[in-house]
Amino acid sequence: MRRESDAVSFVGLGYVGLCTATVMASKGIKTIGVDVDEKRIEELGKGHPPFHEPQLEQMLKAAVRKKRMEFTTDASRVAQANTIFLTVGTPSRDDGSMDLAYVKKATQNVGSAIAESPSYHLVVIKSTVIPGTTIDVVRPVLEAASEKLIGPEVGLASNPEFLAEGSAIKGTLQPDKIVIGAFDTKSGATLTKLYRRIYSKINIPTIVTDPTTAETIKYASNAFLATRVSTINTIANICQRVPNADVETVAKAIGLDPRIGRLYLKAGPGYGGSCFHKDLQALISFSRSLNYDPLLLAAVEKVNQRQASEIVNLSKKLLGSLDNRRIAVLGLAFKKDTDDIREAPSLRVIDELLKNGASVSAYDPMALENARRVLPEKVELLPDAISCLKGADCCIVMTEWDEFRRLRPNDYKSSMRAPNIVDARRIIKRGDLNGFNYMAIGLGTSSP
Ligand code: UDX
Ligand code: UDX
Repeated sequence: MRRESDAVSFVGLGYVGLCTATVMASKGIKTIGVDVDEKRIEELGKGHPPFHEPQLEQMLKAAVRKKRMEFTTDASRVAQANTIFLTVGTPSRDDGSMDLAYVKKATQNVGSAIAESPSYHLVVIKSTVIPGTTIDVVRPVLEAASEKLIGPEVGLASNPEFLAEGSAIKGTLQPDKIVIGAFDTKSGATLTKLYRRIYSKINIPTIVTDPTTAETIKYASNAFLATRVSTINTIANICQRVPNADVETVAKAIGLDPRIGRLYLKAGPGYGGSCFHKDLQALISFSRSLNYDPLLLAAVEKVNQRQASEIVNLSKKLLGSLDNRRIAVLGLAFKKDTDDIREAPSLRVIDELLKNGASVSAYDPMALENARRVLPEKVELLPDAISCLKGADCCIVMTEWDEFRRLRPNDYKSSMRAPNIVDARRIIKRGDLNGFNYMAIGLGTSSP
């Protein structure tokens, strides 16, 4: 690819990098994807994404075919692009604080790549990084490696993403907002212009601010969302202890209050995924480093960790002791429509079931391969729901897959040893449950 004045480059092709890059390519923008993982680059060149995400494969294949996307392990190629996005991972250390090694390394590579370039380049930090990182960490590393001054010669901006797995492409095609934390006016104008080009037909609210505020917006967003989940789960756990109380109706009613809103009020087995736990831990650790103990956020995390025990306790209510009982776990992914099991509550629930002496069978429409890598050998992974239910004393529905909504009472009855169901996602219609022993998250036990 020749140097294209309007080309973009992405360093780090995980969920965020690959989905965003693919959407930009679909809008006709030349895109160069860089990753250290050779196998990943080779597969991407053939149009094969490394994970499941609705619409991604089809869009990726089209972009590769039209030669709008190129993939390489050679980081120096980023100099061919005007705007360079950093989308490497930002893992947690054991104490919850953020490991910025990949961000630093990627910044250094980008800096060296553009050192000889006569053109203006804008470097954009899309990875989630703790407030202050773009200015205090990225800026000096980039200046040293490029031997250029940030501002007149090289632009710098923070541009967090808010995409959720399973709807990453949809969310990138039509985001609810764009946040641009610009180092200076030129950086802000360059990025705003790129997004205007991408979203030429729709008006996306755009917040232009400084890099540190932009970084903080991302953490605030995840902190609020995680807090909502732990709040509704707390209400669910209370409902469960009150005869006839039902969190579903409570959520429906409070959601009608515009100050509360109806989204993100689904009680369940706790949040999972690559972001909430990691970002809350990073924010807690960052906050403590500033001598402020964020009690609320620590409680949000604690409630979430404990939610697995709430689910296991429901199965104990049905079975008494779990020792030598067979439990069928339906769903392993942290939510439906993804093969991702990072921080999935199913893993915490299975761990606790095993500790209680139960034997566990499990099935997931997409996540079996990923689950096999982390679950102990003794957890039996089955290729479909019916074989997973076979001989079970109790079934726990852990992920809200549509496939599980379609299971009929007879599918359970004909396969299980006993008709005990724990619904951790509230997907089973209660009318269907004559002759079943049914426990559900947030449903008071004496409910009809
Ligand atoms: C993203 C963000 O980057 C992260 O900050 C946010 O908190 C969650 O979403 P994600 O896209 O899920 O992370 O990252 P991951 O799936 O770990 O992928 C990162 C990619 O970067 C991998 O393909 C890895 O091979 C690549 N990488 C990592 C590099 O190319 N260079 C490096 O130095 C390190
Ligand atoms: C989240 C944020 O939504 C996204 O903006 C950010 O960029 C990354 O983190 P993601 O982790 O992909 O995205 O999934 P999300 O749909 O937000 O769900 C997170 C977890 O919360 C899931 O385990 C989900 O099951 C759970 N959840 C969500 C609930 O239990 N109840 C709800 O009402 C909503």
